[in-house]
Amino acid sequence: MRAFDSPEVSAVSFFPVIIIGAGAAGLMCAAQAAKRGRQVLLLDHANKAGKKILMSGGGRCNFTNMYTEPGNFLSHNPHFCKSALARYTQWDFIALVGQYGVPYHEKKLGQLFCDNKASDILEMLLAECREHGVDLRLDTRIEQVGKTDSGYHLHTSAGDFTCQSLVIATGGLSIPTLGASGFGYQVARQFGHELLPTRAGLVPFTITEPNLKELCTALSGTSVEDCVVSCNGQRFKENILFTHRGLSGPAILQISSYWQPGDSVQIDLLPHIDLPEWLACQQRERPNSELKTLLGELFTKKMAGLLAEQWFVSKPLKQYSAAELEAVAQKLANWTLVPAGTEGYRTAEVTLGGVDTREVSSKTLESLKSPGLYFIGEVLDVTGHLGGFNFQWAWASAYAAAQFV
Ligand code: FDA
Repeated sequence: MRAFDSPEVSAVSFFPVIIIGAGAAGLMCAAQAAKRGRQVLLLDHANKAGKKILMSGGGRCNFTNMYTEPGNFLSHNPHFCKSALARYTQWDFIALVGQYGVPYHEKKLGQLFCDNKASDILEMLLAECREHGVDLRLDTRIEQVGKTDSGYHLHTSAGDFTCQSLVIATGGLSIPTLGASGFGYQVARQFGHELLPTRAGLVPFTITEPNLKELCTALSGTSVEDCVVSCNGQRFKENILFTHRGLSGPAILQISSYWQPGDSVQIDLLPHIDLPEWLACQQRERPNSELKTLLGELFTKKMAGLLAEQWFVSKPLKQYSAAELEAVAQKLANWTLVPAGTEGYRTAEVTLGGVDTREVSSKTLESLKSPGLYFIGEVLDVTGHLGGFNFQWAWASAYAAAQFV
């Protein structure tokens, strides 16, 4: 299927720029390069462009974050993202969104979402591509990529193409049903690049320890607001959510990107309360109240009952020794657990690791191993926190490459 009208392909068609992957980064790069007057062919194996954009932000696309800065990104080479992020900022993308009259709002923590639907962002990017004459072809399988004297050669299900600049914008491994594939990594390896180990990020934890699993299953759907979740020296204050299989919610998704199998995770369920002080005060003022009743004022009744049963012996407060009350405070403020694993690429929002940025120019996004080859977006070892940062990286890296392809 051809998305836009385009001439029939002859034996080998030449395009100065070919971009593989019509997701967030590919669409942005295509539009910006075409705006510079470059003739661009944009290829994707999926039957629709920007599927992840449509699914993102619960259908409303959290398209950027007002507080984007390099510290919001994980990479083995943390300085790499700085240059591109500085040259196409969140404010540049917000201006584009404003130009198209897309209504949006800040949900929280600088996260900007569409008021209506994520398709507003996709339509905007497609309109930019159309306006500047990008040739977008979907349902196209890339069967082979090779080097020529002056660029690259592609053998595809839609014919053979050559180009000067080849941009890989095929994203990571998360959610294969939305078109994700390891293609970008394969091309990188083919042209001599090192790959950093990949793993699922921004992903729920699974729990198998029987007592804990029972607790999670029983509380499935319950969320606890503003918990502090820590692991490996990182901490996030956000909601957590119990699920049938373990734990999710924004704070868990954030910390999952810092978690490695076997690591323990600490959760402060009540960071806004000085628990030892509060419990001592309650003991003085309401000595006959049961711990379970007290917890019921802090959590849902069901959660209070389960915690009182599983974690503590519920009895009237006056019967607790100071050490016992201290232990209650300690458990609630420093709940430590070892997740069995994560839900994996099936549900992960992003892929950590990938193409090693030490072999890519931070200014042009061009390979330092194979001239004329570019990597943008999630295929690179640059992964944002939850909250619109991953799209901002896609826009910024795409814009940077588009100035040089
Ligand atoms: P992206 O995955 O967008 O695009 C890659 C494209 O390459 C796809 O169109 C794919 O079909 C194509 N492709 C892959 N293999 C190919 C092959 N072999 N041949 C041809 N084409 C191929 N981020 C954020 O900032 N805010 C948010 O609200 C969300 N929400 C969100 C929800 C869900 C459910 C997910 C899975 C992810 C998010 N994200 C997010 C993350 C965000 O979607 C992601 O970081 C960007 O889409 C990455 O952009 P890329 O263009 O690099 O890859």
